[in-house]
Amino acid sequence: MAVQQQHPTVRMRRLRHHPVMRDLVRESSLSVNDLIFPLFIKQTEDRAPISSLPGLFQLSLDDLEQEINEVVALKIPAVLLFGIPLHKDSVGSDSYSDNGIIQQAIKRIKKIAPDLLLMTDVSLCEYNDHAHCGVMNEKTGRMDLDNDATLELLNKQVVSHVKAGADVVAPSGMIDGAVGSVRKALDSQGFSHIPIVSYSAKFASSFYGPFREAVESAPEKGDRKSYQMDPANGCEAVRECLLDVNEGADVLMVKPAGPYLDVIYRVKQRFPELPLAAYQVSGEYAMIKAAGANGWIDEKKVVLESLVAMKRAGADFIFSYFAKEVAGWLR
Ligand code: PBG
Repeated sequence: MAVQQQHPTVRMRRLRHHPVMRDLVRESSLSVNDLIFPLFIKQTEDRAPISSLPGLFQLSLDDLEQEINEVVALKIPAVLLFGIPLHKDSVGSDSYSDNGIIQQAIKRIKKIAPDLLLMTDVSLCEYNDHAHCGVMNEKTGRMDLDNDATLELLNKQVVSHVKAGADVVAPSGMIDGAVGSVRKALDSQGFSHIPIVSYSAKFASSFYGPFREAVESAPEKGDRKSYQMDPANGCEAVRECLLDVNEGADVLMVKPAGPYLDVIYRVKQRFPELPLAAYQVSGEYAMIKAAGANGWIDEKKVVLESLVAMKRAGADFIFSYFAKEVAGWLR
């Protein structure tokens, strides 16, 4: 590199001329093995479409057979489960009941596809009538999340998920100390082999809108800004990850993904030795779907570009509602 490299000696377009040459120098790639498909399972009779997530459904337990067989046939390696219980209460009891919606779903899926990797979202928001992600108290005059009381419930929840057959747990509530607490709870029950995928840097994002329709968990009072991160903060995301690493997280995560590629990049640069996941969230899916349906963008090309950009930024794997479609395209 001693000689000054410049045009006309250097022509960047040389490597772009032949399509095979372009393939050879491609730096990032996307494969079905990078994708995890999130599933919504509701205690109901029939599947119900989610209007803001076209193509996706709240599935009943009986729908799982067909859905899981499709996922397996597409060679998608893993699913992430969200449960919508029949009855919500103030302490999310369904989430740690041995007969809860998630526990039933896990047992069914394990019978249908024993080798599919089953991850569960560990949180209370879908199970609480107030839709916040923990135990709330109102002693300060406004709704406040009681951090350490919440940890107790998360401990119960992970143990019950794993007893039902979950392979991986993913605490998603941005509750301080959750990773360490859940790690201890699992280890004390003989589950030291179960990995924790931590939603380490999860932002208080408006891109979660359609998800809240999907799981019927938009908080009526207040928002999630006292536990999820301010979208303006990047250094703080790195600090969140550092804490999770110290508490024993096996995989870190940045969420949402597309608008936070800089955070993905920073986290990967800082913790290259840890696997990093990205979550392409419901609002990212909905926007691409809407523009695609209108013919304003080429949906397939935009989806593939959005996902490879996450890989380029540093994500090792991606949670995406497009997983099934992408798996079909990549075949
Ligand atoms: C919390 C949780 C949320 C999402 C995943 N886990 C919602 C929230 O924190 O408000 C959002 C996922 C998405 O928008 O696709 N259990």
